[in-house]
Amino acid sequence: MRAPAPLITEAHERVRSLYAPDIGRSREDLTTPALLLDLDVLNSNLGIMAAGMAGVSTTLRAHVKVHKSPHIARLEVEHGAIGVGCATVWEAIVMARAGIDDVFVINETVGPQKTRALALLAREASVKTAVDDAVQIDELSRAATAAGSTIGVLIDVDEGMHRCGVASADEALPLARRIADAPGLEFVGLTGYEGHASLEFDETARHSMAGEAMHLLTGVAAHLAHNGYPCQIVSAAGTGTWEVTSRYPGVTEIQPGSYATMDGHHRGLDPRFGWAVTVLASVISRRSDRIVLDAGSKTVGASQGVLKDWDLAVPATRSRSCATTRRSRSATSTPTTRWRAAR
Ligand SMILES: Cc1ncc(COP(=O)(O)O)c(C=O)c1O
Repeated sequence: MRAPAPLITEAHERVRSLYAPDIGRSREDLTTPALLLDLDVLNSNLGIMAAGMAGVSTTLRAHVKVHKSPHIARLEVEHGAIGVGCATVWEAIVMARAGIDDVFVINETVGPQKTRALALLAREASVKTAVDDAVQIDELSRAATAAGSTIGVLIDVDEGMHRCGVASADEALPLARRIADAPGLEFVGLTGYEGHASLEFDETARHSMAGEAMHLLTGVAAHLAHNGYPCQIVSAAGTGTWEVTSRYPGVTEIQPGSYATMDGHHRGLDPRFGWAVTVLASVISRRSDRIVLDAGSKTVGASQGVLKDWDLAVPATRSRSCATTRRSRSATSTPTTRWRAAR
């Protein structure tokens, strides 16, 4: 891993100086709402993943779209990740500037600005992206040729989540041929994400869904190899399936992301990983049947729906007597009070 570019170091110093008065203070003294990163929990999560990957030949690529932090990404690499996965080319630029050499935009990169940015980045770092259509391949090839760089390309396979990706080996083969023939591109392999399996709480059912997804993915890889296009990388998995998928024959790389900082959903699937990022909030109003926090959906986001009881682990003794509340690792009691977040 290279040293971070001055741009990243300057940004780090700026954040440190902005938050200098808060660093070292106890949680109770912080102005709320505050986004907190618990470094001990983060390091424990990264350590659990590293230990789980120690005995397998599959490599770990840390997906950074949840935290988007180059500093956390560097810690993930220090804990054994071979590189990072990103959702956008802009995340990829930040990660490469942060000194990470192997950057994979695990998404279709389309449009002249984005393909040009990716092609220019490929001059500085090992850059890969995903495709599921010939149009994307041609556009990437034009951009790489103009920039004088080489972009690694993986075919995105729809493993059952029904987002992007080709549905079959027959669809993948002409794309592999087109990538291999395209100037400026290198055919690297296949990528898939069994995110639909991660929605399943029952572990047996989840593992079985992941198994079906890997059967499809590795079957496509075998078909391509049989036709002269062997895959260097067959990449898959998220936090809900990393363990089973990393042990599936033919998978070479896993790409989980949420495990580092975690969230309510994934903690329900795998409680070994703790909440490293939490929102510290204060109760701003207490009525007989409800309390209201200063951390509403406009503050913390509501992409997974509005907060539910299990999102808020609050020490029961504090919840009734004190104006400030917090999510706590050690507190697992279900709050008896109804919680409502102010918007
Ligand atoms: C393509 C892709 N790979 C990997 C991940 C990381 O998965 P998770 O958040 O389940 O760890 C995501 C996240 O949504 C994703 O979209």
